Amino acid sequence: MDAYYKSLLNKNKAWVAETLSKDEKFFDKLSEGQQPPLLWIGCADSRVPANQIIGAEPGEVFVHRNIANLVVHSDMNMLSVLDYAVNVLKVKHVIVCGHYSCGGVQAAMTNNSYGVIDNWIRHIKDVYRFHSEELDSIKDENDRLSRFVELNVVEQVYDLAKTSIIQQAWRNGQKIEVHGWVYSLANGIIKDLDVSFSNDSQLEETYKLNL
Ligand code: CO
Repeated sequence: MDAYYKSLLNKNKAWVAETLSKDEKFFDKLSEGQQPPLLWIGCADSRVPANQIIGAEPGEVFVHRNIANLVVHSDMNMLSVLDYAVNVLKVKHVIVCGHYSCGGVQAAMTNNSYGVIDNWIRHIKDVYRFHSEELDSIKDENDRLSRFVELNVVEQVYDLAKTSIIQQAWRNGQKIEVHGWVYSLANGIIKDLDVSFSNDSQLEETYKLNL
């Protein structure tokens, strides 16, 4: 058996032992259920582990990750996670967290073809089209990518607010805030893009639903 693979199960046993040494009731408490205050929608990138970078404990963050942290309105996986988080777990915050140097966003800046994923990346290309004037005016390629990463997060936050799930929650008087963040792989710091909102006032008229 591959040594790396084998080491994973050994590390699990070590983690259990260490966790129990700090709190012998740890697993008893988590077995009772979860009440996370936060839904995290992040990139699948292995360098952006949701819990670790915000110092969150098991039971604290409900997580959905995909390539380039997209909120695609017809994605049943994302919608199911969102519905469960909002309507069953009653999370208070939904955070879309992108990261600088995102390979998915970078791919959307090129005309390269990578196979099936081209169709996923296309959603990010739509973000470029919406903001092409601003992005085209940034001459430095790295700066343009960084801004594209930020604008991609902003659009996903709006896409969250456009979902019937979030709009219905607001209509019901549920306190739920959506936020947009970008994580830096270079220094570990998260930038809050200040696009948080907790009602549909910033939503364009065409997306508002009479619920
Ligand atoms: Co990424």
